Amino acid sequence: MARTRRPLIAGNWKMNGLKADALALAKDVAAGVSQAGWSDREVLVCPPATLVAAVADATKGSGLLAGGQNCHAKASGAHTGDVSAEMLKDAGASHVIVGHSERRADCGETDAIVRAKAEAAWRAGLLPIVCIGETLAEREAGKTLAVLESQLKGSVPAGSTAAKLVVAYEPVWAIGTGKTPTTPEVAAAHAHIRKVLGGLMAEAAGVRLLYGGSVKGSNAAELLAAGDVDGALVGGASLNAAEFLAIAKAA
Ligand code: PGA
Repeated sequence: MARTRRPLIAGNWKMNGLKADALALAKDVAAGVSQAGWSDREVLVCPPATLVAAVADATKGSGLLAGGQNCHAKASGAHTGDVSAEMLKDAGASHVIVGHSERRADCGETDAIVRAKAEAAWRAGLLPIVCIGETLAEREAGKTLAVLESQLKGSVPAGSTAAKLVVAYEPVWAIGTGKTPTTPEVAAAHAHIRKVLGGLMAEAAGVRLLYGGSVKGSNAAELLAAGDVDGALVGGASLNAAEFLAIAKAA
C-alpha cells in the first residue's frame, strides 16, 4: 500500500530579498502557518543563502521550515563563493532545492552534478528537492516524458527512499510565465515520474512529487488536485505572504 504522502508547499524566493523585507515576509508566512497549525502538510521557504540563518531563526517554533536553493556537492574546500549542504544545515535549513532549471541553464548543471548535490544533501541531513522539467521545444517535439525519464535516471541517487527524496516537476516554459500545463498534462507527467521512480527505488509510491511553474493562489487548488501531485514549488507567488499562504491552504 502506498504510504501517506504529506503535501509539501515550498517557496523558492530565488535571488530576491534583502534582510528587512525578507524577514518581514518570513514572519508573515510563519504567523499564518503557526495560526493554521497544520499537521497534515509541510510549508517551506527557501530564501537566498545569505538569509537562510536569519529566516530560520526568526521563524523558529512556528512550524514554517527553511531551506536552501542550491548546494555544492562537497562538504568544504577550495570552492570560492559556493555553499555546502552542511553550511545550510548549520544555518537551520531542513531542505535544499537541487537541479532547478535556472541552475541547469545558467550554471551548466548536469544530471550527474544534480545527483551529487542530492547525495550531499543526504550527507548533511537535508532533504533534497530534485527538480526536473522539459523545455518548450522538448514539449512541442513530443519528448516531455522521455526528457523527464532521462533526467530522473541521471539525477536521482541510488539508495533513495520515500523519506529521503522529493521530486519537483517544473516545465521550464511554465516558470515565471503565467502559463501552466493543463491538469491532465500535469497528471500524465506525474504518473510517468512515479512509474520511472518505481524502476529506480522500492518506495516510489511514497515519494512526494511537487508541481512547479506559475502556481498562484487562484490556480493552486486545481493543480494540486491533479493525480500524483503532492505539493507545489512556488517561485513568484512565494514572495507575497497572503498569496503563498493561500497556496498552502489549498494543499
Ligand atoms: P514561478 O517559479 O512560480 O515563478 O513560475 C517556480 C520555480 O521556478 O520554482
